[in-house]
Amino acid sequence: MSTAKLILDGREYEFPVVMGSEDEKGIDISSLRSGTTAITLDPGYGNTGSCVSDITFIDGERGILRYRGYPIDQVAQQADFVEVAYLLIYGTLPNQREFAAFKQQLTYHSLLHEDMKKFFEGYPPTAHPMAILSSMVASLSAYYPSADTEQNIDLNIVRLIAKAKTIAAFSYKKTIGQPFMYPRNELDYCSNFLHMMFAVPSEPYTVPPVTREALNLLLILHADHEQNCSTSTMRMVSSSKANLFASIAAGICALWGPRHGGANQKVIEMLEMIRRDGSDYEKYVGLAKDKDSNFRLMGFGHRVYKNFDSRATILKATAAKVLAQLGVQDPLLDIAKKLEEVALSDEFFIDKKLYPNVDFYSGIIYRALGIPTHMFTVMFALGRLPGWIAHWREMRQDPKNKINRPRQIYTGETERDFVPLDQRA
Ligand code: ACO
Repeated sequence: MSTAKLILDGREYEFPVVMGSEDEKGIDISSLRSGTTAITLDPGYGNTGSCVSDITFIDGERGILRYRGYPIDQVAQQADFVEVAYLLIYGTLPNQREFAAFKQQLTYHSLLHEDMKKFFEGYPPTAHPMAILSSMVASLSAYYPSADTEQNIDLNIVRLIAKAKTIAAFSYKKTIGQPFMYPRNELDYCSNFLHMMFAVPSEPYTVPPVTREALNLLLILHADHEQNCSTSTMRMVSSSKANLFASIAAGICALWGPRHGGANQKVIEMLEMIRRDGSDYEKYVGLAKDKDSNFRLMGFGHRVYKNFDSRATILKATAAKVLAQLGVQDPLLDIAKKLEEVALSDEFFIDKKLYPNVDFYSGIIYRALGIPTHMFTVMFALGRLPGWIAHWREMRQDPKNKINRPRQIYTGETERDFVPLDQRA
């Protein structure tokens, strides 16, 4: 095993170097504080490995993403989302029997406890569906308290994936004032979700195959992305031994922010703003470069990808294909493509290695499928569920799992005497 040397206050310390299966190097500094009294400081954690993990490999410099070793483009072209969920959570592709059983379980557990339906009545119609999804997922712990124990883990995993789509669809129905549509057991995961979203009791609804295929692809592309903000949040919460539902609800909340999964909603809002403003995309590229403007091109940039985001490449091609298949003409797709073209040939974006990320084109596809903008981040969450669960499970099974508790460098006042209120100026 190789080691790394650190010289601090004239003394030399040695730390083991941990190698990943793809030759990534990490300096194991777990003995740093006990040996030196110093800690590392890495705001934003850009240089910090919080764990070792077998689930997903990303090489941001080369634009590589693999789930359990399988390249994302192969998985995206050939797999079913349910298969991918199984792969991420259990580590192997399911055989036909395992796949059929998992699929059946995900259908069978789709119903919500009837009492949970009453929760929806309490939300205003303007409630953001992410607010509903996160609180409903946390509330599942009230209905399945066994999630607090190590028993029934697999059953609770299935319940969560199965019911999340029902919660998501009901949260949409709530915002448009339509009756909730119950899941149908003859439908697969994606079709069942689309049925609950778009069917009404008064007429038949058939899931368009193009829509089902596009949704399947979108969910797969979002299914995991190793230690991103929401997964790390979920792991942080889970490290306290919070139950599965509580931990995942925390991940959903972290995903909501516009720097993370909330960017897909912001991309469409930005493209709409540019269109209303005469489609002058160059003006907005200029604004994004202006340090004083606070404006960023939403859907651009990534902490890890410094070349291209393979998911965005797949989605760009898919957007054009799906829109053509559905006969949808969306001016936002043209604006997005032009914006990308201008940005990618601009020194600023080239220097800073800013490329479209997964959120840049996903919204255009969701729009074409009829999914409203405020539901986009919920769609991301549905896709990311298997990834969060896989990390939750991996962490629970790790005998070295400890509570996550970072430290800090304190820069506040040093000790001083308390001044009673009547003596303060
Ligand atoms: N538009 C314009 N400039 C940008 C953008 C952007 N979208 N993203 C980064 N930059 C600039 C920053 O101003 C910074 O410039 P500086 O070095 O002169 O200060 C430099 O590029 C590096 O940016 P950071 O914010 O330091 O990079 P970081 O890795 O911390 O942030 C992030 C990554 C949050 C994704 C950022 O690129 C961003 O805000 N993008 C827009 C929001 C977005 O699309 N988020 C979705 C990410 S994908 C996902 O989470 C699913």
